[in-house]
Amino acid sequence: MAFALPVWFAVQDELGQEEADRGALSPFHHLDDEALFQMFHLSRTCIAFVTDSVRLRMKKLPLDTRSLSVDSVVMVALNYYAHGASSAAVLQRAGLSPADSGSIINTVSGVIAGMSDQFVSFPLTRHARASVAFRVEKLCGIPKVLGVLAPAHFKIRASPYDKDTFRSFVNTLGYTSVVSQIICDSDGNILSVEKCSAGSTFEQDLWDSSFRGREMENELHGSYWVIGGKGYHLSKHVLTPVSEPGNDSEARFNEAHAKIYDVMRTTLGSMKRRFRCLMQLGFAQEGSLNNKSNIIKACCVLHNIAIKFSVPPPPIAGKIERLLPGKQHSAPVEVDPEAVKARQKLIKENFSAVCSGQDTSGSSSSSSSSADENL
Ligand SMILES: *[C@@H]1O[C@H](CO)[C@@H](O)[C@H](O)[C@H]1NC(C)=O
Ligand SMILES: *[C@@H]1O[C@H](CO)[C@@H](O)[C@H](O)[C@H]1NC(C)=O
Ligand SMILES: *[C@@H]1O[C@H](CO)[C@@H](O)[C@H](O)[C@H]1NC(C)=O
Repeated sequence: MAFALPVWFAVQDELGQEEADRGALSPFHHLDDEALFQMFHLSRTCIAFVTDSVRLRMKKLPLDTRSLSVDSVVMVALNYYAHGASSAAVLQRAGLSPADSGSIINTVSGVIAGMSDQFVSFPLTRHARASVAFRVEKLCGIPKVLGVLAPAHFKIRASPYDKDTFRSFVNTLGYTSVVSQIICDSDGNILSVEKCSAGSTFEQDLWDSSFRGREMENELHGSYWVIGGKGYHLSKHVLTPVSEPGNDSEARFNEAHAKIYDVMRTTLGSMKRRFRCLMQLGFAQEGSLNNKSNIIKACCVLHNIAIKFSVPPPPIAGKIERLLPGKQHSAPVEVDPEAVKARQKLIKENFSAVCSGQDTSGSSSSSSSSADENL
């Protein structure tokens, strides 16, 4: 669960009141469910929920010279997130010209990004932590994990004439991007999204300078780990795979690590399918990334809301993009010996031959063999 239920219901209560105040019908109300999904990649109830949440938070409409409704500006933004462009049909229904869409998208994105305090929430109570960790452990057998940490890269365009800036946006796969730090749980809910930096940024540097990174490394979240890929340094709170597994225990641990890490790949893949704007965020210059950042955060908020409303993303077209291979500092790093010990202890306790790591594979193979006998 991405955010506490009481909060969720409190929001809905408030909405009930707001709704009573609201007379006008959305300019999109007569579209059928299928057409709505095609336009917004969200369901009708989900769109209504988002619109009402924005209504509560939006103090002032952009382009105040015209009689705009919150419904129509939200629709324009949602349509842009879903397709990476504003369709003429949606703009027309909303009564807007294409020239208006940019500022509308920026404004609405700012408002939805601001909703992340409610809808993108890191587990902060003892109970919430235990519940996230329980589900991760159930999936992969690694205990005390609060989520999966990764740098999420989003393509942008950068001017090749400004060589230094351009180079700063080129990532390890050779394309220009911005990168945000994302943490998700084992169900693909986004628990944290921070930063929007040029694509060449080291993920370790993102972590070191992020709020979550500093909180976790300073033990503010207790003795929990986040799962990180090879681009991170092993620490007492970032659990990386063993780079050269020397025995079966370490190999089993790496398999478990890969299994939970894969949730992040699926999650980002599903976000980019639903919100195709994330496939290409348009022109960016260093120092003016706030609006990109708002769009990324807004999509994280909407992703969590869509999961909450059980709205699946559009089906897969083509391959799911792989996660970027970690960008590592070339200088060798000194790994904290305490962290190495902690990971060894975990592998020994949970992935050595006689332990549960073996149990899991043992019980699954025995259950499959008993299934074979039943055939
Ligand atoms: C960012 O968005 C704001 C509105 O929220 C807008 O005034 C500003 O011009 C935008 N910046 C860029 C670089 O597009
Ligand atoms: C991992 O090891 C700890 C300590 O021995 C144990 O309490 C826990 O149940 C183990 N978890 C799994 C999934 O094996
Ligand atoms: C596996 O290798 C690691 C590192 O060399 C070692 O600490 C651990 O005891 C080994 N485990 C087994 C079961 O041999």
